[in-house]
Amino acid sequence: MADINFDRILEDIKPTETEKKRVMELSDELIKNLNETASRKGAEAEAVLVGSVAKSTWLAGKADIDIFMEFSLDTDESYLKRCGLKLGHNCIETMGGTAEERYASHPYVTGTIEGYEVDFVPCYFIEDASQLKSAVDRTILHTQYIKKHLDKKQEDEVLLLKRFMECVGTYGSEFKVGGFSGYLCELMVLEYGTFMGVLGAASSSWRYGQIVDLENHGTAELFKDPLVAVDPVDKNRNVAAALNLQKMSDFIVASENFLKNPSERYFYPKDLEFHSESVKKEFLKRGTKTFILTFRPPDIPADAVYPQIRKTEKSIVKVAESHGFTVTGSDSWTDEDDEAMILVEFETWKLPTMRKHSGPQIWFKEHQERFLEKYSGKAWVEGDRWVVEVPRTYESVEAFFEGVLTPNKIGYLRFGKHVKTEILKEHQLLDINELLESQCDGEVLRFLYLYLNKNELLWR
Ligand code: UTP
Ligand code: MN
Repeated sequence: MADINFDRILEDIKPTETEKKRVMELSDELIKNLNETASRKGAEAEAVLVGSVAKSTWLAGKADIDIFMEFSLDTDESYLKRCGLKLGHNCIETMGGTAEERYASHPYVTGTIEGYEVDFVPCYFIEDASQLKSAVDRTILHTQYIKKHLDKKQEDEVLLLKRFMECVGTYGSEFKVGGFSGYLCELMVLEYGTFMGVLGAASSSWRYGQIVDLENHGTAELFKDPLVAVDPVDKNRNVAAALNLQKMSDFIVASENFLKNPSERYFYPKDLEFHSESVKKEFLKRGTKTFILTFRPPDIPADAVYPQIRKTEKSIVKVAESHGFTVTGSDSWTDEDDEAMILVEFETWKLPTMRKHSGPQIWFKEHQERFLEKYSGKAWVEGDRWVVEVPRTYESVEAFFEGVLTPNKIGYLRFGKHVKTEILKEHQLLDINELLESQCDGEVLRFLYLYLNKNELLWR
């Protein structure tokens, strides 16, 4: 390991003193602004800095300033939301920024101020988790816990871990990624001591259902997730609830790769080499047939869009297989604004006109009677079971999509409801070649490239 110079990497990923100063000064100014407005308007709210800026665990150039506005527990919820949003908007306006309202479990305002993304989130002031009123209330407790337990040296370890996670594609708890949140990375460093400690444990001893319980709450069995990190500040919460099995496995494999062959390159974005010709050739070489269903993503929060698209993708695959087609892989992508795509790669995409349909066994006279009524003279017996030849509903994948994406057949698919509306409004089914021949921008190409090269980001 001697050949990895972590200090050199930290020089690139650790905020400079100038950046730290700018971010802290701006944060102070925002908090002052909020508190002054609040007291002027007679609103009993207090602004506090949370998230990675408060914990000194943000990556250089990536500061998003998270500010929570605490209201006392007896505050009416609709007042809290209204007043919190208003304070946020007001602050963004007086600071000359641009605002956008968003919804998590909870509405909040996000703005860009002096080039920084700032989140303003109204919440309740609580002293411990038993007083929780909404999911965001925990955040303040998280910030306090990390500030108290993570030492200066370990802040650097967190930066290394976050950066490694980013570069191998496992960082971020939002649904788009389904990976590790910043807070989860911090807890991992507390548990295993260092960046190398986390990778060592992940690669050698993690199992499905791995438990990390820093405060020994003993409540891990409440959760059925691949990784269980009992929240030190709330024994009823798994901090790793958003981590899916895929991303947990990806991280374990990337850790093994790194430890086998350590390289500083794991801390820098990988240069992926692709263009539409090479991607097209790769698809062609596989001898499969790949279809792309395109539609507009519904206008709902990003965290709601991804699960809906994923659900639609899985359902299309399942129903296509129930019609006799074999699918070798699928994936989906969206820019969250104009375009969404579901990719399905088929091993079988043409089927014979006929289909063998099996009926009841000859021992069950009542069932036999009904079967024979329906299929009259065409049925025969194989072993002790009636069989009949029937015409197939869909002989081709194109016919399948055309048939199933219509208002009266769409019921066979399980959709996110907003995605369903959009697909019925307008969609396009393209052969992968058609897509690659049309305007195909970098993000879409990257999606297709990574579909073909699934482990590409996991090694250097
Ligand atoms: P952020 O996603 O901004 O995380 O959420 P962060 O710790 O600031 O890390 P960066 O921004 O990626 O560097 C802010 C806070 O919200 C809570 C955590 O307390 C986090 O510090 N949170 C967020 C969760 O508990 N779980 C999540 O999945 C996301
Ligand atoms: Mn943050």
